Amino acid sequence: MIDLQPVKGTRDFFPEEMRLRNWLFEVWRSVSVQSGFEEYDTCVLEHEDLYIRKAGDEISKQLFSFEDKSGRRLSLRPEMTPSLARLVLQHNKSLSFPIKWFSMPQCFRYERMTKGRRREHFQWNADIIGQPEMVAEAEILMLLISACESMGLTANEFQVFINDRRILNAILTQINVPVELHSTVLVILDKRDKISAKDLGEMLEDAGLSAKQVGQLNEFLSESDLNELKENLTDTTGIEQLQHLMELMDTAGYSGYLKFDISIVRGLSYYTGAVFEVNSPEKKHRAICGGGRYDSLLSTFGGETVPAVGFGFGDVVVLDVLQELNRFPELQKKLDYTIIPFASEQVGIALKIASELRMKGSVVDCNFSMKKMKKSMRQANESGAAKAILLFPEELSEDKVVIRDLQLHEQKPVKISDLIS
Ligand code: HAM
Repeated sequence: MIDLQPVKGTRDFFPEEMRLRNWLFEVWRSVSVQSGFEEYDTCVLEHEDLYIRKAGDEISKQLFSFEDKSGRRLSLRPEMTPSLARLVLQHNKSLSFPIKWFSMPQCFRYERMTKGRRREHFQWNADIIGQPEMVAEAEILMLLISACESMGLTANEFQVFINDRRILNAILTQINVPVELHSTVLVILDKRDKISAKDLGEMLEDAGLSAKQVGQLNEFLSESDLNELKENLTDTTGIEQLQHLMELMDTAGYSGYLKFDISIVRGLSYYTGAVFEVNSPEKKHRAICGGGRYDSLLSTFGGETVPAVGFGFGDVVVLDVLQELNRFPELQKKLDYTIIPFASEQVGIALKIASELRMKGSVVDCNFSMKKMKKSMRQANESGAAKAILLFPEELSEDKVVIRDLQLHEQKPVKISDLIS
């Protein structure tokens, strides 16, 4: 007997779960289109080296990769951003920047399985490429806020926690950490919530920081007030940019959604500016969504520098959050009619009525199980259809069928020609 379970960390989607997934995708797609984003897609298979980065990103160690029969190193995509960068580089000359694109790829990461983390997930991505100003961040944040609200989350049930890598870089420069070490240090700092202060300190020292620098860094990272931080930093570009973004969001009518949080780093080494995540205000979950500005990713692939900002919003955590809040939508199977013949001679006419009704736009199913009346009616009720069309020989001999309203439990004979017109 083969193993009937899905591969560890992956999911099967039975029709009921598929209805929920389609609902979520529909929210993602409609808010994206409404904000002027265009959909794109790429293949789930990519060249492995698209994901290998010097800074030692966790994601590079979680690849599902293999060698194909021609010896190419390939990988299932763990995220969409490198594929997007590849597309933009391919058509750099013909694209009219800034572009606003979205996608809903399935991603694969060999993760240690914990709540909210699986080895496969769907991740809505929205990115603006070619806009260096903070207005791109504002548009991106407005988009993900509108998605949260369309899913039924209220303004006090979620929060955008935001920081800027330039603030973190300014801190590192001020305590004399060489620039070449910044990306590695930031990838380590992203683990701050997940490991002990002692382990974190050791990792930072292994990366090249002195014990004194680790102490100074911890002191800076205990600061939660942007203005206080501004007074103690020499390079305040990141702080000013973040304050500008917050003002833009206030003017756009989105005040209160953003909260400065110096602990937000995000684990991907390519972020260069704003970094943010969405969570419940008490940060009860893994991040519902994460993203930021990545102005140099394209140049690391050998292209010109093209400014970019975007986010990835997974399906797993947000569905956990909605379930906890009892906020799943009512999603019934939509079926207008179920057609029930009671003898094999009626199969042809059942198919014909189904076809004509479908051509008129109705959602129609046939029940060919040829059960007795009582059992057929039970199946009709379970089918979720609004009405049953019963094919009895007597009515059929007069070109009629019996239509039964399954909610009102009333039935009447109707001419077939009237039904399909
Ligand atoms: P990320 O922070 O690695 O970013 O992932 C973004 C989101 O994807 C997470 O907040 C979470 O919702 C979901 N996610 C990630 N890994 C898993 C997993 N193993 N199981 C379930 N959900 C998961 C990126 O991937 C960036 N490429 C996002 C981005 C787009 N940045 C700019 N543009």
